[in-house]
Amino acid sequence: MSFRNASLRIARTAGASIAKRALSSAATRPALRTATKVAGVRGVKTINFGGVDEVVYERADWPREKLLEYFKNDTLALIGYGSQGYGQGLNLRDNGLNVIIGVRENGASWKAAIEDGWVPGENLFPVEEAVKKGTYVMNLLSDAAQSETWSTLEPLITEGKTLYFSHGFSPVFKDLTHVVPPKNVDVILVAPKGSGRTVRSLFKEGRGINSSYAVWNDVTGKAHEKAQALAVAVGSGYVYQTTFEREVNSDLYGERGCLMGGIHGMFLAQYDVLRENGHSPSEAFNETVEEATQSLYPLIGKYGMDYMYDACSTTARRGALDWYPIFKDALKPVFEKLYESTKNGTETKRSLDFNSQPDYREKLEKELDVIRNMEIWKVGREVRKLRPENN
Ligand SMILES: NC(=O)c1ccc[n+]([C@@H]2O[C@H](COP(=O)([O-])OP(=O)(O)OC[C@H]3O[C@@H](n4cnc5c(N)ncnc54)[C@H](OP(=O)(O)O)[C@@H]3O)[C@@H](O)[C@H]2O)c1
Repeated sequence: MSFRNASLRIARTAGASIAKRALSSAATRPALRTATKVAGVRGVKTINFGGVDEVVYERADWPREKLLEYFKNDTLALIGYGSQGYGQGLNLRDNGLNVIIGVRENGASWKAAIEDGWVPGENLFPVEEAVKKGTYVMNLLSDAAQSETWSTLEPLITEGKTLYFSHGFSPVFKDLTHVVPPKNVDVILVAPKGSGRTVRSLFKEGRGINSSYAVWNDVTGKAHEKAQALAVAVGSGYVYQTTFEREVNSDLYGERGCLMGGIHGMFLAQYDVLRENGHSPSEAFNETVEEATQSLYPLIGKYGMDYMYDACSTTARRGALDWYPIFKDALKPVFEKLYESTKNGTETKRSLDFNSQPDYREKLEKELDVIRNMEIWKVGREVRKLRPENN
């Protein structure tokens, strides 16, 4: 695809006004956002997202001093130190809050936590001990482990504590997971929209991930406030409200669709057809993955798809305009099937069944090995080496 950067277009083409529009709309986007309606309550903003008003909460609503004051009598017991435990735990620690980690003694996470400076007996404990000590129990075990450990942990989550999740999975699909949160405690959720590594790296850069929050039980009348505060404390830049059900359905659906499964399927289909038609591996990879990830997707992220249509060649634009409805019509039934499979618990059941098998890591390795050995991804390793910054 031929793509011109906006300044080249302005200089070269009669369509300069289109490019100017694209640039100016991109440039005005932040200004539009700050100019949105501000509701009466301090710091809470109602933003019109594509015609629908939604309330968002921002980091500015919870400066560090306010967080320190809010959680001054609390012990945040974060159990599980995988991707999210690492990101959220270190951010909480850097924010100066009293956070302790609970993981299986001498397991992989225990060792990882020690490497990150958590000290056994001081702020690193076996899971049950941490849960006993915490006023907040932040359940960041793997989803399968939340189900496996629930019968042991549930009696320890006593009145006065707050139970926190980063995914609606366990309580929403309680018939499958058997995780039924106690009725006498606040139960909240903060779901960062990215991996725990990103939660950490954005925080360190002084930025923040976007997260959703939800409340399952509001016993104290303060559950919403607690979730908003914790969302900022773990490293969110802004937070929007959802429900446990909507969070789990959109999350499972998204990762199986455009975020991973769907995009992987689309890459493979496009690559195969190019190869079957005599294109070389490097050409097929470049036209399928490299140009997408290195050139186009970052621009879509920064300025939007509408900008892309303005900033590409007239030939590319015509083709994409003609073909996107064909792809949409072909794919929509697949997405409908996927949403149903998410909503009716099929995806949860499959995930629990697979991930709780004792030999699940070996089985997973076999499947991942198939992907590693696909021609497309082997080609990708070579193409990435050719990037000047990797030479
Ligand atoms: N990863 C993401 O990008 C992401 C994003 C948003 C939300 N979430 C949600 O955040 C939560 C945590 O996810 P994650 O990806 O960070 O978790 P993960 O990496 O899958 O979880 C690993 C943690 O669970 C522990 N664990 C596993 N089996 C256990 C068992 N039987 N008993 C005790 N501990 C056990 C592991 O300890 P050992 O090392 O001892 O095995 C490790 O500390 C989940 O609810 C997930 O859906 C994840």
